[in-house]
Amino acid sequence: MKPRCLSDIICRMTKSKTALRTHYCGELRREHVGQTVTIAGWVNRRRDHGKLIFIDLRDREGIAQIVFNPEVSAKAHSIAVELRSEYVIRVKGKVQPRPKGTENPKLATGEVELIVEEAELFNKAKTPPFYINEEVEVDETLRLKYRYLDLRRERMQRNLILRHKVVKFMRDFLDAKGFLEIETPIMIKSTPEGARDYLVPSRIYPGKFYALPQSPQQLKQLLMVAGYDKYFQIARCFRDEDLRADRQPEFTQLDLEMSFIDEEDVLNLMEELFTSLVETVTPQFKLIKPFPRLSWTEVMEKYGSDKPDLRFGLEMADLSDIFAGSEFSVFRTVLAEGGRIKGFAAPGCATYTRSQLGELTEFIRSRGAKGLVTMALDGKSEEKIADLTTDRVRSVVTKFLTKERVIEIARRLKANMGDLLLIVADKPKVVDSVLGALRSEMARRLNLADPRLLAFAFILNFPLFDWIEEEKRWDSMHHPFTSPHPEDIPLLDTDPGKVRARHYDFVCNGSEVSSGSIRIHNREMQEKIFYILGHNKEEVQAKFGGFLEALECGAPPHGGIAPGIDRLMMLLTGESNIREVIAFPKNQNAVDLMFDSPSTVPPAQLRELHLKLLDES
Ligand code: AMO
Ligand code: AMP
Repeated sequence: MKPRCLSDIICRMTKSKTALRTHYCGELRREHVGQTVTIAGWVNRRRDHGKLIFIDLRDREGIAQIVFNPEVSAKAHSIAVELRSEYVIRVKGKVQPRPKGTENPKLATGEVELIVEEAELFNKAKTPPFYINEEVEVDETLRLKYRYLDLRRERMQRNLILRHKVVKFMRDFLDAKGFLEIETPIMIKSTPEGARDYLVPSRIYPGKFYALPQSPQQLKQLLMVAGYDKYFQIARCFRDEDLRADRQPEFTQLDLEMSFIDEEDVLNLMEELFTSLVETVTPQFKLIKPFPRLSWTEVMEKYGSDKPDLRFGLEMADLSDIFAGSEFSVFRTVLAEGGRIKGFAAPGCATYTRSQLGELTEFIRSRGAKGLVTMALDGKSEEKIADLTTDRVRSVVTKFLTKERVIEIARRLKANMGDLLLIVADKPKVVDSVLGALRSEMARRLNLADPRLLAFAFILNFPLFDWIEEEKRWDSMHHPFTSPHPEDIPLLDTDPGKVRARHYDFVCNGSEVSSGSIRIHNREMQEKIFYILGHNKEEVQAKFGGFLEALECGAPPHGGIAPGIDRLMMLLTGESNIREVIAFPKNQNAVDLMFDSPSTVPPAQLRELHLKLLDES
């Protein structure tokens, strides 16, 4: 029958039915018993019981047991004799209940099996370089080289199917809120987000280049100028930066922007989106509701990080004033040089052995700190800190401290008897980064982070600028399009470091999931920020001339945010490596091992692009 219209085709193409099969392997249940079905897929495992041959046939939806009996079909059985792992076949036959005692409760299809009447071999397969049908550790280089085989494995399928559901949820949610999905170009001009650009040489204009977007930041702002009001895009971004476990050179953002809004609108939208997403798509996770809103100053003080893991406490406190009056020269020197002293209490760790303490010292030294002072408060947690005496504090610094000072330190760190106090003195940034890392390490050792909890939070009131000491210049904490806090505008001329930004981050379990801000929407302010960042008039015109002109053409107040989808997927799948949630990632050296890319190109292609390699000249 000819389909009458498109919707007819869509209706006929049910989830599993295609021209070559009627059902998915993973779909067969007791209700199909007695039906004749056709399934197709890959040989997951083959068991030869002499007369009977059992095959686990696998497709995207799961595994079905199929049985070849020469008495049912000698022809099909002769095909089964030849089958090996990963061969692609289709079989037709009757679904029947498995004989009593042979059911497999671990398989969704485990109550039934298919008795094969007809079989067809579509394709043979070489012996795979690793087991596809078993959850075993496989060298990642091999996995990435044969990614199409790796993607057949259950874990990767689970991750990518969940990713589809998450992105679909986002699209539907934003559509219902009146957002328009609009695509923006990949070949554009440099967009500063703090990384190097990937460049595309122009063949038509010798010596000129397109840049791939580090994000669609300026484009989404221009869509607001154009009056589109609410925009989103599942946007691919490209950044040439040092790779880490949660960074890829190309990654995906849920990029969004809105007009006539303030911070509250964006934060409320994010909270609603992420709450309903988790509750619908991954309900196994718990959330802390409402999402906490913390100031940047507060989280830096308490956690030494602007993306704190809030699943556990281990809060830090400043001890500089207490040590300022002590005789401990190491700390006094640090303070005299403008440093600070901070610490936190590790519950119940006063019993740590010398070698365990050595491990902690090594941990912080390898991250750039000079040393670690530990203070073990010998006692039981129910004993009172007020009764603490110096002879019960095991530490190199005890002899430099009075009893009152020791008690004050313990109180400030909210310690109990039996705790181990961990203290570092250094430049403020070093103290925060190493103690922040040590905090996570102690949580790991003490098993404090509930893996079922997604502790989302908003971080607010970031500084607008960050001082880059080595280059003696200001840099944007977020990006240059972020609006300063209106009250702090006078400080732009006098004390830029004190200017607060209308910038918010959205964090979860120690990961920065999103950044966003209310933007600058007038030219004068935007130019001023570029100048503070060290650009001169000519540079600003060359790099941002078109954008600045748009700000003079009726730009509405606007703002937005861009959750990183890959990082979100790491949280939702529990993966610690970003490559596990991306179908075709680059390895940690930015190489695509499957296509062997980047690769050289023929000299003629370079000539066409007016390029000459340095070592050839
Ligand atoms: P930002 O640069 O903070 O903001 O990026 C937003 C989010 O994108 C994710 N992300 C990455 N994920 C994987 N690999 C990377 N290399 C990588 N870099 C960033 C993070 C991050 O929080 N245009 C602004 C957003 C805005 O202001 O609306 C922007 O791109 O999860
Ligand atoms: P030192 O005098 O260098 O032997 O250090 C005495 C103790 O102080 C040792 O336990 C060191 O680990 C510790 N220490 C040294 N420098 C620092 C520092 N900057 N912060 C914290 N502890 C330190």
